[in-house]
Amino acid sequence: MENRDNTPNYESDAWHTISELEELLSGLVAALQEDSDVDKRIDNFRFKIGQAAEMVGREPQTIRDCEREGKLPKADLDDHGRRRGYTLAQVNQMRRYFKTTPWRKDGDPPAIVAVQNLKGGVAKTTLACHAAQFFALKGYRTLLVDCDAQGSSTSLFGYNPDFDISGQETVYPYLIGDGKDSLHYAVRKTHFDQLHLIPANLELQSVENAFMGLDSRERLEAFYRLRHGLTELSSSYDIVLLDPPPSANLMMVSVVMAANAVAIPVEPENICLSSTSSFLVILRDMIEASERWGQPLSYSFAKFIFTKVRPTIRRGGEEVDTSQSVLRKAVAEALGHRVFEHALLSSAEFDTATSEFRTIFEHVGHKSKTYQRCFNNLTAVLGELESHIRASWPSHETRLREQGRG
Ligand SMILES: Nc1ncnc2c1ncn2[C@@H]1O[C@H](COP(=O)(O)OP(=O)(O)O)[C@@H](O)[C@H]1O
Ligand SMILES: [Mg+2]
Repeated sequence: MENRDNTPNYESDAWHTISELEELLSGLVAALQEDSDVDKRIDNFRFKIGQAAEMVGREPQTIRDCEREGKLPKADLDDHGRRRGYTLAQVNQMRRYFKTTPWRKDGDPPAIVAVQNLKGGVAKTTLACHAAQFFALKGYRTLLVDCDAQGSSTSLFGYNPDFDISGQETVYPYLIGDGKDSLHYAVRKTHFDQLHLIPANLELQSVENAFMGLDSRERLEAFYRLRHGLTELSSSYDIVLLDPPPSANLMMVSVVMAANAVAIPVEPENICLSSTSSFLVILRDMIEASERWGQPLSYSFAKFIFTKVRPTIRRGGEEVDTSQSVLRKAVAEALGHRVFEHALLSSAEFDTATSEFRTIFEHVGHKSKTYQRCFNNLTAVLGELESHIRASWPSHETRLREQGRG
């Protein structure tokens, strides 16, 4: 049944029930996210001089001296004349002044890393977002591309994908060749200095239908569009992170074609290993197809990261075997260096952070032992990812070896 203005007029109980649910829930989500205003986040997210000095690689006194001598801007003060701490933008300004930015050199290829597996819930989004912030905190020029219509990464950056983002602001128009000749229009700043985001929302799902309607030559061209767009954009960044959808769809193909490195999050569970095996078969098929189409792919690394690993149980000083630990050992033995040395441990801190639309790095206030454990583990995993990325930059090779990370 339709109204005079041609909008459908649905009358079924199911339609009314679901519409009502949708309205109530989206109102609630919007209210919950109100507290996560991006500008407020920038101003609240500050580093004490000791932390800033460590990030910059100089002594606090050197920073104070430079401020006094006018070589660096004066520190922000609060109403009581106390230092408010430094924003990440101010820390990066110091890095530029002291020439301690970790950027790649011009001849080093920008890293375009897909954090990919087929399965949902294996911490793809968690790793992609935390990696993006970790690299930005270290001073890398970073871009995070949300390629999942669910927009989970977009949410973690304080946006409500359905209210704040339109399909036109995602990769969608570029991917379907809708009059855009680059992806620049979709890039937005975040509350992390030098970390940019291309957001996603549900309309990204329409890419699937749009691709279906193409003839085989057009579809082939469409598969590589994300790659072309990101290759162009990546010249302004050190690291680009891709958060793909949890399905074997056309968006996933675009991500595989666009990446030059793959980090594969895997839960040490039998079901996840089987699904990862299917993912690798699809990936291999796509690499073969790409070669046939004259566009060979090249990955600087493709490695598993174990995620959501339950802490080791010890009894009388001895490690107790659990189904997870047995499986992890078997995989590590079979795959060797293709598995990250550090595994991402399971921690309730991730759920707490997600429920507050923030990450582990944005935690303010008292830092419990549990938090500190989670933070240390997370930074060890991401530090390893950083080493793999830097190993793909010829100009970083010597420094990596000197730091014992080569
Ligand atoms: N190491 C972890 N420990 C506990 N929970 C985690 C961990 N990593 C992620 N999670 C939680 O698991 C859920 C799914 O993670 P997510 O990153 O969205 O997975 P994916 O993107 O692969 O679907 C989220 O609620 C997230 O907070
Ligand atoms: Mg996800």
